Amino acid sequence: MHLINFKELSGQQIMEIVDKGIEIKRNPKKYRGALEGKTLAMIFQKTSTRTRVSFEVAMTQLSGHAIYMDWRVTNFTIADIYDETQYLSRNVDCILARLIRDSDLQVMVKASQVPVINGCDEKYHPTQAIADLITMKEKKSTLKDAKLVYVGVHNNVCNSLIEACTKVGVEIVTVTPIFNEPSRDDELLDSAKKTGLYRTTLDLKEALKDADFVYTDTWIDMEFFQDPKYAEEKEKRMRIMIPYQINEKNLAGSNAWIMHDMPIHRGYEISSDIIESSKSIIYEQSENRLYSAKAILLKLLGKY
Ligand code: CP
Repeated sequence: MHLINFKELSGQQIMEIVDKGIEIKRNPKKYRGALEGKTLAMIFQKTSTRTRVSFEVAMTQLSGHAIYMDWRVTNFTIADIYDETQYLSRNVDCILARLIRDSDLQVMVKASQVPVINGCDEKYHPTQAIADLITMKEKKSTLKDAKLVYVGVHNNVCNSLIEACTKVGVEIVTVTPIFNEPSRDDELLDSAKKTGLYRTTLDLKEALKDADFVYTDTWIDMEFFQDPKYAEEKEKRMRIMIPYQINEKNLAGSNAWIMHDMPIHRGYEISSDIIESSKSIIYEQSENRLYSAKAILLKLLGKY
């Protein structure tokens, strides 16, 4: 079993991982030693704080070992992903990969003899979505009848949220004036629409009615944020997106919890005062990456 997106998982299977994450958070000692002797290879083509730290700490606390591999200093740069993965999967028990291209990740999956976890590619960010559902369930006790509004660019995080939410019974409304084309997965959106739980609109005020959670993410993919070649596109995105910033004015009348998967660009997708507000659960959400990582690792390594 791999975790690339949620296509192969039912809502019940997703909830099993979410509930395991909550249980591990409550009883961490029970799981000490659960992955003794196991090794996770973590290979990153892009920068990361949370994904790297949460999976590395998860392996340490479960008595396993994690190897961090910066793509640029490995021979993945000069050889086939297929061949390098064939080797890697013969020496480790699980692979976490943050690759730019989903097609490259699919090659890795084909070559690997061990589970592969998508640490965020251009299309999906499933490990983040598990942490998000853990956070939402902690706040609301049940996810049934919960409503989340995603405001931002339609991207990889948005796709995984739509897929996860509609499978577990959460209503999700997206307010996404820009669609990140490399993230496009029409099959995922069609399946989500069929559940009756997903719709998209540009009317932010209407979308926020009765919302339990409002969620935003960066408007610019991390690899482009500082890139001078992307400056013009960045400027264009800022102009289109600024009316949709998560701020006091746009949230007037809403009692929704505020979520953001981080890293945050203060003053862009969200104002500083909202990050610090009593309704913000952003830092709890980021902490839950650890319990999400543990639950995913234990699942993929056959421990429940
Ligand atoms: N949310 C998230 O994936 O954080 P990092 O990019 O820091 O891993």
